Amino acid sequence: MRYQFTEDLVTGNPLIDSEHKTFIQAANNVMDNLSDGTDSAAIMGTIQFLSNYAKTHFKHEEELQKETGYPDIVAHKKWHRNFETEIETIAKDITTNGISSAAVVELTRKMSILLNHIRTQDKKIALHISKSS
Ligand SMILES: [Fe+2]
Ligand SMILES: [Fe+2]
Repeated sequence: MRYQFTEDLVTGNPLIDSEHKTFIQAANNVMDNLSDGTDSAAIMGTIQFLSNYAKTHFKHEEELQKETGYPDIVAHKKWHRNFETEIETIAKDITTNGISSAAVVELTRKMSILLNHIRTQDKKIALHISKSS
């Protein structure tokens, strides 16, 4: 399974888009590791990177929302915190118990939820930022 930064994911904000590209690449690295049976140390590295990168990216998006007075910041932040927790749980599960098909399914599910968040919620922030600059 490989994710692509397709046209429907473009928000139009250069920082947000470039970070989403990095996130998708990081998710592909995890998926590659999970499917090719790489040793667990390598997987721990890639999944921890994904988890940390999500936090960094969410923080940047929230700073942009704060700077521009985005009206839906509270709900957006709440969604980010929840997603961070869920990714962290998967990362811990893989680190502790090794690769399982359940973990792969769970991560795949979380990725499709995140891509949907980009298509809907992150596009709204980008639009708001472009109008307020
Ligand atoms: Fe985002
Ligand atoms: Fe977001």
